[in-house]
Formats: sequence, C-alpha cells, structure tokens
Amino acid sequence: MRAIQSVALGRAELVDVPEPELRSDSILVTPRYVANNPADWIGTDLEYLFAKDQNLGCDYTGVVERIGSDAKTTLKPGDKVCGIVAAGEGGDKTRGCFAERFPAYDDFCFPLPQNISEPEAATLGVGISTMITSFYIDLGFPLPNKGATLGRGRPFFVYGGSTASGLYAIQFAKLSGFRVVTTCSPRNFDLVKSRGADEVFDYHDFQKCEQEIKASVGDDLQYAYVCVMGDDPPKLCAEVLSTKGGKYITIVATPCPRNDVESKMTYGQSIMADTYKSTTGVEQRNSARRELGLKAWRMSLGLVEQGKILPPPHELREGLEGALKGIDDLRRGSISGKKIVSKLV
Ligand SMILES: NC(=O)c1ccc[n+]([C@@H]2O[C@H](COP(=O)([O-])OP(=O)(O)OC[C@H]3O[C@@H](n4cnc5c(N)ncnc54)[C@H](OP(=O)(O)O)[C@@H]3O)[C@@H](O)[C@H]2O)c1
Repeated sequence: MRAIQSVALGRAELVDVPEPELRSDSILVTPRYVANNPADWIGTDLEYLFAKDQNLGCDYTGVVERIGSDAKTTLKPGDKVCGIVAAGEGGDKTRGCFAERFPAYDDFCFPLPQNISEPEAATLGVGISTMITSFYIDLGFPLPNKGATLGRGRPFFVYGGSTASGLYAIQFAKLSGFRVVTTCSPRNFDLVKSRGADEVFDYHDFQKCEQEIKASVGDDLQYAYVCVMGDDPPKLCAEVLSTKGGKYITIVATPCPRNDVESKMTYGQSIMADTYKSTTGVEQRNSARRELGLKAWRMSLGLVEQGKILPPPHELREGLEGALKGIDDLRRGSISGKKIVSKLV
C-alpha cells in the first residue's frame, strides 16, 4: 500500500510500504478524508521530532476495517468514523493517517457527527484536541456544556484568529462566556467574526494593533492565547495583558516575556499519545488527562452536532498527492483561513 512518510530530514514522500499490523489495542481504519496540519512538516523538518520512515498525518475520517482483540470500543467493522492520531507517538511508525490503512486509537476514534460534511469532520482532530488541552486542562476552565458563566463578558485575546486553531479558540472562549478580541489579516475579518470574534484587528502594524487592543480591553485583559510563531505574538501579548497579571497560553512554544504572567505551553497530543515530545523532553501518557480529554471530546462532538462549534473552511484536494502538496503549502505559509482536506476514496 502507499503512505506519506518522512524519508529524510526536511523531506516527505509518497512511498510503497507494507500493510500495517493490527495492534491488539487499536482499530484498523481505511481513511476516506484526511486534513493537513503544520505538525506534518514540523515533524519532518525539526531534528528533535524527526523519525525516518514515519507515516505522517493526524486528522482523518474513515471506515473501520478490523478491531483489535483488546480494543475498548463499541465501533464495528464498516462504521464511518473521525478522529485523531498523534503521528509517530510511541515509536510506532505506522501510526499516521496519510496512508491507505493505519492503526487508530480505540478511544479517540468517534462516530461521524451527523450535521457536518465528511470533509469538515476530517478537520476536527488536532483542532479539538488542542482546545481541550488548552482550555480544560492547562487553563483549568470548567467544561462549558452546562452554561457559560466563567467569562462574564471579560476580554479574551486570541493572537492569530484566522489560523485553524484560532478559529476554534474563538469559539471555545465564547462558549465560556468571554468577549473575544483577536488579530488576523483584513481578508479574514469576516471569517473570524463568523466564528464569534467580537473585535478583530490587523496585526501587520504592531504599534497600531497594540493601541487598538488596549483601547478595546483597557487594563482588564487576563487571558492571551497565541496561535502564531514568531517574536511579535508574545511581545504584543505582554503589552496588552493587564498590569495586574494574567494567563498566557501558547500552542507554538513561545513563552510570555513577563514574569508576572502565568505562561503555559499546550501540546494537543498530550491527551492521547502514549508518549509525546515537548520542548521539555519526552513526556509519558497520563491516564487522568486521557480520561478528561475523552470526556471533553464527547462534549465537543455534541457541540459540533448542535451547531455551536463550526469547523474551519476547507479546500478539497484529491488523493494522498493532495495531502503531500498540502505539507509543502503549509511549510511555505501559503494557506490562509482554511484547512487542506484530501479525498482518498
Ligand atoms: N501545540 C499544539 O498542540 C498545536 C496544535 C495545533 C497547531 N499548533 C501550531 O499552531 C500554529 C498554527 O497552526 P494552525 O494549523 O492553527 O495554523 P494555520 O491554519 O495553518 O495558520 C494559517 C494562518 O496563519 C496566519 N499567519 C501566518 N503567519 C502569520 C504571522 N506572521 N502573523 C500572524 N498570523 C500569521 C495567517 O493569518 P492571516 O492570513 O489572517 O494573516 C493564516 O490564516 C502552527 O505553528 C502549529 O504548528 C500547535
């Protein structure tokens, strides 16, 4: 069969590989739609993450082919599913969904939501997992399904509202009752507003952006959420967070330069991977995180089915070739305000 693998540092290719074995604790899935994430190229290009001949790809929909003898699931062969795999975790090189078949987790593999299209369902995996880790584990927010009272209309700042992660972060912050202020390019202002952003500012002029955000939030901003790499995002957050301190979450491993601000780095895959690599080393699976992660995933799928969480826009491509090109497009930074989804069958 064929799969996209990282064949050398900085190079992913479509190659012929043996069929994966069915692990007893896994579900063998034939993927139907897969979505690209920056993790596809970051895992190929960064030396500390690179593993030779590793299957790539985290986000999928597909059909259940076979179920491992120890798998804990109510799914059956033939069921249509969506989910996430942390490509390469635990040293299993077949764990990656840019392939004709792959071993999915027995728990982070869910029936397809009914109210969104299958390509849209292929975009949920990394996005939802990252939000769960950020909001309900790292920030410790209560799950919002019983009513959103935490925010009480206070401001929550998302740097990079038009990233796939930012579009989800806006919606999860709104579900917790915050007033969301965000940044992106003007071409994406309508998009971020469609996901609930209350105010949006262009980040290209740093000083103007800082002044506009300060005029909006005063000295009341206690939460900043960073979805974009580089020096400007932490610098801007440090300027606009309240002088009384606050909390700063980054999904791109750039800490906040202020000592009076609580700074956390989120790793979405930390809810489901057996081991995962963070900037502080290799960390082990934690069963309490996994349980909370699963509970929050089920809640999130319920919110998707109620139309309260909308997936990002997507561009549809064909085959594993489409996903391979998606890796390059994300590496070059040429994708704005949408996911790349590829149809495999
Ligand atoms: N820690 C985790 O678990 C985790 C999970 C998911 C993603 N990530 C990381 O988070 C980042 C975002 O991933 P994603 O998939 O959400 O992104 P994405 O959808 O690929 O991001 C594309 C967007 O990035 C924005 N952008 C690009 N360069 C920018 C800059 N210099 N300043 C401000 N905005 C810029 C563009 O906004 P405009 O076109 O509007 O300017 C564009 O819409 C990546 O670095 C990814 O590796 C981490």
